[in-house]
Amino acid sequence: MLQHKIDQYTAEINAFNTDKADELEKFRIRFLGTKGIIKDVFDEFKAVSPEEKRTLGKVLNQFKQLAEQKYQSLAEVTQASAEKSNADQLDLTLPGEGFEIGTRHPLALVRREIIEIFNKLGFSVAEGPEIEDDWHNFSALNFPEEHPARDMQDTFFIKKGGEKGDIALRTHTSSVQVRMMEAGQPPFRALMPGRVYRNEAISARAHCFFHQVEGLYVDENVSFADLKQTLYYFVQELYGEGTKVRFRPSYFPFTEPSAEMDVSCSICKGAGCQMCKYSGWVEILGCGMVDPNVLENCGIDSKKYSGFAFGMGIERIANLKYEIKDLRLFSENDVRFLKQYKSAII
Ligand code: DAH
Repeated sequence: MLQHKIDQYTAEINAFNTDKADELEKFRIRFLGTKGIIKDVFDEFKAVSPEEKRTLGKVLNQFKQLAEQKYQSLAEVTQASAEKSNADQLDLTLPGEGFEIGTRHPLALVRREIIEIFNKLGFSVAEGPEIEDDWHNFSALNFPEEHPARDMQDTFFIKKGGEKGDIALRTHTSSVQVRMMEAGQPPFRALMPGRVYRNEAISARAHCFFHQVEGLYVDENVSFADLKQTLYYFVQELYGEGTKVRFRPSYFPFTEPSAEMDVSCSICKGAGCQMCKYSGWVEILGCGMVDPNVLENCGIDSKKYSGFAFGMGIERIANLKYEIKDLRLFSENDVRFLKQYKSAII
Protein backbone atom coordinates (compact mmCIF):
# COMPACT_ATOMS: atom_id res chain seq x y z
CA MET A 1 0.00 0.00 0.00
CA LEU A 2 2.62 2.46 1.14
CA GLN A 3 4.96 1.38 -1.65
CA HIS A 4 2.26 2.10 -4.18
CA LYS A 5 1.69 5.61 -2.84
CA ILE A 6 5.39 6.37 -2.87
CA ASP A 7 5.62 5.24 -6.50
CA GLN A 8 2.82 7.61 -7.46
CA TYR A 9 4.34 10.58 -5.61
CA THR A 10 7.78 9.79 -7.05
CA ALA A 11 6.32 10.01 -10.52
CA GLU A 12 4.65 13.31 -9.62
CA ILE A 13 7.90 14.75 -8.29
CA ASN A 14 9.86 13.65 -11.32
CA ALA A 15 7.32 15.23 -13.62
CA PHE A 16 7.20 18.52 -11.73
CA ASN A 17 8.93 21.50 -13.24
CA THR A 18 8.57 25.29 -12.84
CA ASP A 19 10.46 28.58 -12.96
CA LYS A 20 7.87 30.41 -10.91
CA ALA A 21 8.52 31.03 -7.24
CA ASP A 22 4.86 30.78 -6.19
CA GLU A 23 4.41 27.37 -7.86
CA LEU A 24 7.56 26.11 -6.24
CA GLU A 25 6.30 27.30 -2.88
CA LYS A 26 3.10 25.28 -3.40
CA PHE A 27 5.26 22.25 -4.17
CA ARG A 28 7.26 22.77 -1.00
CA ILE A 29 4.14 23.03 1.14
CA ARG A 30 2.57 19.95 -0.51
CA PHE A 31 5.58 17.67 -0.03
CA LEU A 32 7.92 19.17 2.53
CA GLY A 33 5.56 21.28 4.68
CA THR A 34 4.91 20.45 8.34
CA LYS A 35 1.59 18.90 7.31
CA GLY A 36 2.91 17.66 3.95
CA ILE A 37 3.10 14.29 2.23
CA ILE A 38 6.54 13.33 3.53
CA LYS A 39 5.28 13.79 7.07
CA ASP A 40 2.20 11.63 6.23
CA VAL A 41 4.12 8.73 4.74
CA PHE A 42 6.54 8.70 7.65
CA ASP A 43 3.54 8.57 10.01
CA GLU A 44 2.08 5.66 8.04
CA PHE A 45 5.45 3.91 8.10
CA LYS A 46 5.22 3.61 11.89
CA ALA A 47 2.30 1.15 11.48
CA VAL A 48 3.86 -1.34 8.99
CA SER A 49 5.17 -4.75 9.97
CA PRO A 50 8.83 -5.13 11.05
CA GLU A 51 9.82 -7.12 7.90
CA GLU A 52 8.37 -4.48 5.63
CA LYS A 53 10.08 -1.74 7.61
CA ARG A 54 13.48 -3.09 6.59
CA THR A 55 12.87 -2.58 2.88
CA LEU A 56 10.51 0.37 3.07
CA GLY A 57 12.79 2.40 5.34
CA LYS A 58 15.36 2.77 2.63
CA VAL A 59 12.71 3.57 0.01
CA LEU A 60 11.24 6.27 2.23
CA ASN A 61 14.56 7.96 2.82
CA GLN A 62 15.26 8.03 -0.89
CA PHE A 63 11.81 9.45 -1.51
CA LYS A 64 12.44 12.24 1.00
CA GLN A 65 15.80 13.07 -0.56
CA LEU A 66 14.22 13.15 -4.00
CA ALA A 67 11.67 15.76 -2.89
CA GLU A 68 14.35 17.88 -1.19
CA GLN A 69 16.71 17.78 -4.14
CA LYS A 70 13.94 18.71 -6.54
CA TYR A 71 13.07 21.68 -4.38
CA GLN A 72 16.71 22.85 -4.09
CA SER A 73 17.41 22.66 -7.79
CA LEU A 74 14.19 24.44 -8.75
CA ALA A 75 14.85 27.14 -6.12
CA GLU A 76 18.02 28.06 -8.00
CA VAL A 77 16.10 28.21 -11.26
CA THR A 78 13.33 30.46 -9.93
CA GLN A 79 15.80 32.84 -8.29
CA ALA A 80 17.79 33.19 -11.50
CA SER A 81 14.66 33.87 -13.48
CA ALA A 82 13.53 36.54 -10.97
CA GLU A 83 16.90 38.26 -11.29
CA LYS A 84 16.72 38.11 -15.04
CA SER A 85 13.29 39.71 -15.16
CA ASN A 86 14.48 42.53 -12.89
CA ALA A 87 17.43 43.12 -15.19
CA ASP A 88 15.09 43.18 -18.19
CA GLN A 89 13.15 46.04 -16.58
CA LEU A 90 16.22 48.19 -15.95
CA ASP A 91 16.30 51.01 -18.47
CA LEU A 92 19.60 52.83 -18.24
CA THR A 93 18.47 55.53 -20.63
CA LEU A 94 15.94 56.93 -18.16
CA PRO A 95 16.93 60.21 -16.45
CA GLY A 96 18.36 59.69 -12.94
CA GLU A 97 16.66 60.68 -9.69
CA GLY A 98 18.68 63.62 -8.44
CA PHE A 99 19.26 64.14 -4.73
CA GLU A 100 17.98 67.51 -3.71
CA ILE A 101 20.13 69.29 -1.19
CA GLY A 102 18.12 70.83 1.62
CA THR A 103 18.38 74.43 2.68
CA ARG A 104 18.79 76.05 6.05
CA HIS A 105 15.62 77.27 7.73
CA PRO A 106 15.35 81.07 7.44
CA LEU A 107 15.20 81.36 11.23
CA ALA A 108 18.41 79.34 11.54
CA LEU A 109 20.06 81.64 9.01
CA VAL A 110 19.08 84.75 10.92
CA ARG A 111 20.05 83.23 14.27
CA ARG A 112 23.48 82.41 12.90
CA GLU A 113 23.91 85.88 11.47
CA ILE A 114 23.09 87.43 14.85
CA ILE A 115 25.48 85.07 16.64
CA GLU A 116 28.29 85.79 14.19
CA ILE A 117 28.00 89.54 14.68
CA PHE A 118 28.18 89.23 18.46
CA ASN A 119 30.99 86.66 18.22
CA LYS A 120 33.14 89.44 16.83
CA LEU A 121 32.51 91.35 20.06
CA GLY A 122 33.54 88.35 22.16
CA PHE A 123 30.07 87.04 23.04
CA SER A 124 29.85 83.28 23.53
CA VAL A 125 26.67 81.20 23.09
CA ALA A 126 24.74 79.51 25.92
CA GLU A 127 21.48 77.60 26.12
CA GLY A 128 18.98 76.71 28.80
CA PRO A 129 15.94 74.44 29.21
CA GLU A 130 12.58 75.16 27.55
CA ILE A 131 10.72 73.74 30.55
CA GLU A 132 11.39 76.18 33.35
CA ASP A 133 10.42 76.82 36.95
CA ASP A 134 8.87 80.03 38.22
CA TRP A 135 12.13 81.12 39.83
CA HIS A 136 14.17 81.19 36.62
CA ASN A 137 11.41 82.47 34.36
CA PHE A 138 9.91 85.08 36.69
CA SER A 139 10.91 85.46 40.35
CA ALA A 140 14.68 85.77 39.96
CA LEU A 141 14.02 88.27 37.17
CA ASN A 142 12.26 90.55 39.64
CA PHE A 143 8.68 89.93 38.45
CA PRO A 144 6.34 90.90 41.29
CA GLU A 145 4.08 88.12 42.55
CA GLU A 146 0.97 89.62 40.92
CA HIS A 147 2.58 90.52 37.58
CA PRO A 148 0.13 89.90 34.71
CA ALA A 149 2.73 87.96 32.68
CA ARG A 150 2.35 85.11 35.17
CA ASP A 151 -1.31 84.78 34.21
CA MET A 152 -2.64 81.66 32.62
CA GLN A 153 -3.27 83.76 29.52
CA ASP A 154 0.39 84.18 28.70
CA THR A 155 2.08 81.18 30.20
CA PHE A 156 1.67 77.50 29.46
CA PHE A 157 1.81 75.99 32.92
CA ILE A 158 2.78 72.35 33.21
CA LYS A 159 2.72 71.66 36.95
CA LYS A 160 1.70 73.61 40.02
CA GLY A 161 4.11 74.09 42.89
CA GLY A 162 7.54 72.58 42.26
CA GLU A 163 10.60 73.07 44.48
CA LYS A 164 11.30 76.37 42.71
CA GLY A 165 7.69 77.27 41.96
CA ASP A 166 5.29 76.29 39.19
CA ILE A 167 6.73 74.50 36.20
CA ALA A 168 5.96 76.11 32.83
CA LEU A 169 7.22 76.44 29.28
CA ARG A 170 9.57 79.41 29.35
CA THR A 171 7.99 82.59 28.07
CA HIS A 172 11.30 84.24 27.22
CA THR A 173 15.00 83.44 27.00
CA SER A 174 15.73 85.82 29.89
CA SER A 175 15.54 82.72 32.10
CA VAL A 176 18.88 81.63 30.65
CA GLN A 177 20.48 84.83 32.03
CA VAL A 178 19.54 83.64 35.50
CA ARG A 179 20.92 80.16 34.92
CA MET A 180 24.16 81.58 33.60
CA MET A 181 24.66 84.03 36.46
CA GLU A 182 23.77 81.43 39.11
CA ALA A 183 26.40 79.10 37.70
CA GLY A 184 29.39 81.43 37.95
CA GLN A 185 30.83 84.87 38.57
CA PRO A 186 31.35 87.81 36.15
CA PRO A 187 32.55 88.64 33.59
CA PHE A 188 29.64 87.30 31.51
CA ARG A 189 29.38 88.08 27.85
CA ALA A 190 26.98 85.68 26.18
CA LEU A 191 24.20 85.27 23.67
CA MET A 192 21.36 82.89 24.49
CA PRO A 193 19.22 81.80 21.57
CA GLY A 194 16.19 79.56 21.98
CA ARG A 195 12.50 78.78 21.56
CA VAL A 196 9.92 80.38 23.81
CA TYR A 197 6.22 79.74 24.34
CA ARG A 198 3.19 81.93 24.99
CA ASN A 199 -0.43 81.05 25.26
CA GLU A 200 -1.66 83.05 22.28
CA ALA A 201 -4.07 82.28 19.45
CA ILE A 202 -2.14 81.48 16.27
CA SER A 203 -2.49 84.12 13.54
CA ALA A 204 -0.34 85.85 10.93
CA ARG A 205 1.06 88.11 13.65
CA ALA A 206 1.20 85.87 16.73
CA HIS A 207 2.16 82.29 17.47
CA CYS A 208 2.18 80.08 20.53
CA PHE A 209 5.92 79.54 20.09
CA PHE A 210 8.64 81.69 18.61
CA HIS A 211 12.35 82.28 18.97
CA GLN A 212 14.44 84.81 20.81
CA VAL A 213 18.05 85.71 21.28
CA GLU A 214 18.98 87.04 24.68
CA GLY A 215 22.16 88.97 25.33
CA LEU A 216 23.93 89.52 28.64
CA TYR A 217 27.06 91.51 29.51
CA VAL A 218 28.06 91.78 33.15
CA ASP A 219 31.40 93.07 34.42
CA GLU A 220 32.83 95.91 36.47
CA ASN A 221 31.91 99.40 35.22
CA VAL A 222 29.50 98.41 32.46
CA SER A 223 27.38 101.42 31.53
CA PHE A 224 24.40 102.33 29.40
CA ALA A 225 26.88 103.80 26.90
CA ASP A 226 28.31 100.28 26.42
CA LEU A 227 24.82 98.95 25.81
CA LYS A 228 24.09 101.59 23.19
CA GLN A 229 27.38 101.18 21.38
CA THR A 230 27.10 97.38 21.31
CA LEU A 231 23.61 97.44 19.87
CA TYR A 232 24.51 100.22 17.47
CA TYR A 233 27.36 98.09 16.10
CA PHE A 234 25.02 95.12 15.83
CA VAL A 235 22.48 97.05 13.78
CA GLN A 236 25.08 98.44 11.38
CA GLU A 237 26.37 94.93 10.79
CA LEU A 238 22.92 93.41 10.39
CA TYR A 239 21.15 96.02 8.26
CA GLY A 240 24.09 97.90 6.78
CA GLU A 241 25.84 101.13 7.56
CA GLY A 242 23.67 104.18 7.79
CA THR A 243 20.81 102.34 9.52
CA LYS A 244 19.47 104.68 12.20
CA VAL A 245 18.60 103.55 15.70
CA ARG A 246 16.53 105.15 18.42
CA PHE A 247 15.94 104.16 22.02
CA ARG A 248 12.56 104.69 23.65
CA PRO A 249 12.19 104.46 27.43
CA SER A 250 10.30 101.33 28.46
CA TYR A 251 9.73 99.03 31.39
CA PHE A 252 10.90 95.47 32.11
CA PRO A 253 11.01 94.12 35.67
CA PHE A 254 14.55 92.81 35.20
CA THR A 255 16.20 95.96 33.83
CA GLU A 256 16.48 99.51 35.18
CA PRO A 257 16.51 101.73 33.22
CA SER A 258 14.84 99.87 30.36
CA ALA A 259 14.42 100.75 26.72
CA GLU A 260 13.08 99.49 23.46
CA MET A 261 15.18 99.93 20.38
CA ASP A 262 13.84 100.85 16.95
CA VAL A 263 15.75 100.78 13.69
CA SER A 264 14.97 102.78 10.59
CA CYS A 265 12.89 100.52 8.35
CA SER A 266 15.24 98.52 6.17
CA ILE A 267 12.57 98.01 3.52
CA CYS A 268 11.48 101.59 2.79
CA LYS A 269 14.59 103.23 4.30
CA GLY A 270 12.39 105.35 6.52
CA ALA A 271 9.98 106.59 3.85
CA GLY A 272 7.08 104.57 5.27
CA CYS A 273 5.68 101.21 4.15
CA GLN A 274 3.37 98.42 5.27
CA MET A 275 6.15 96.71 7.25
CA CYS A 276 6.81 99.74 9.46
CA LYS A 277 3.15 100.74 9.48
CA TYR A 278 4.16 103.92 7.65
CA SER A 279 6.20 105.20 10.59
CA GLY A 280 9.65 104.64 9.10
CA TRP A 281 10.74 102.80 12.28
CA VAL A 282 10.49 99.21 13.48
CA GLU A 283 11.01 97.97 16.99
CA ILE A 284 13.47 95.09 17.13
CA LEU A 285 14.41 94.57 20.75
CA GLY A 286 14.03 95.31 24.44
CA CYS A 287 17.06 96.13 26.57
CA GLY A 288 18.32 97.80 29.69
CA MET A 289 20.76 97.76 32.59
CA VAL A 290 20.39 94.55 34.61
CA ASP A 291 18.40 95.42 37.74
CA PRO A 292 20.60 95.11 40.87
CA ASN A 293 17.89 92.89 42.39
CA VAL A 294 18.43 90.37 39.59
CA LEU A 295 22.19 90.35 40.15
CA GLU A 296 21.68 89.78 43.88
CA ASN A 297 19.06 87.04 43.23
CA CYS A 298 21.73 85.21 41.26
CA GLY A 299 24.44 85.62 43.90
CA ILE A 300 26.32 88.48 42.23
CA ASP A 301 27.54 91.54 44.12
CA SER A 302 25.59 94.43 42.62
CA LYS A 303 27.92 97.00 44.22
CA LYS A 304 30.89 95.60 42.39
CA TYR A 305 29.29 94.56 39.12
CA SER A 306 26.86 96.06 36.65
CA GLY A 307 25.64 94.88 33.29
CA PHE A 308 23.26 95.20 30.42
CA ALA A 309 20.87 92.78 28.80
CA PHE A 310 18.78 92.69 25.67
CA GLY A 311 16.30 90.35 24.05
CA MET A 312 15.07 90.18 20.47
CA GLY A 313 12.66 88.03 18.50
CA ILE A 314 14.30 86.11 15.66
CA GLU A 315 11.04 85.92 13.66
CA ARG A 316 10.73 89.67 13.81
CA ILE A 317 14.19 90.22 12.39
CA ALA A 318 13.65 87.54 9.73
CA ASN A 319 10.31 89.13 8.78
CA LEU A 320 12.02 92.41 8.16
CA LYS A 321 14.96 90.91 6.37
CA TYR A 322 12.96 88.69 4.05
CA GLU A 323 9.70 90.67 4.05
CA ILE A 324 7.70 87.75 5.39
CA LYS A 325 4.25 88.85 6.50
CA ASP A 326 2.82 85.65 8.00
CA LEU A 327 4.49 84.08 11.05
CA ARG A 328 2.81 80.75 10.41
CA LEU A 329 5.01 80.16 7.35
CA PHE A 330 7.99 79.50 9.63
CA SER A 331 6.46 76.38 11.14
CA GLU A 332 4.41 74.97 8.27
CA ASN A 333 7.38 73.19 6.70
CA ASP A 334 6.33 74.03 3.16
CA VAL A 335 9.41 73.26 1.10
CA ARG A 336 8.43 75.83 -1.54
CA PHE A 337 8.72 78.51 1.14
CA LEU A 338 11.79 77.11 2.85
CA LYS A 339 13.96 76.59 -0.18
CA GLN A 340 13.86 80.24 -1.17
CA TYR A 341 16.35 81.02 1.59
CA LYS A 342 19.77 79.91 0.55
CA SER A 343 22.89 80.69 2.45
CA ALA A 344 26.37 81.17 1.08
CA ILE A 345 27.76 79.26 4.05
CA ILE A 346 26.63 75.68 4.57
N1 DAH B 1 12.32 89.10 27.89
C1 DAH B 1 11.75 90.22 27.16
C2 DAH B 1 10.54 89.71 26.36
O1 DAH B 1 10.42 88.56 26.14
C3 DAH B 1 12.72 90.84 26.22
C4 DAH B 1 13.81 91.56 26.91
C5 DAH B 1 13.67 92.87 27.25
C6 DAH B 1 14.97 90.90 27.28
C7 DAH B 1 14.66 93.57 27.91
C8 DAH B 1 15.99 91.59 27.93
C9 DAH B 1 15.82 92.92 28.24
O2 DAH B 1 17.13 91.01 28.30
O3 DAH B 1 16.81 93.60 28.89
O4 DAH B 1 9.72 90.50 25.97
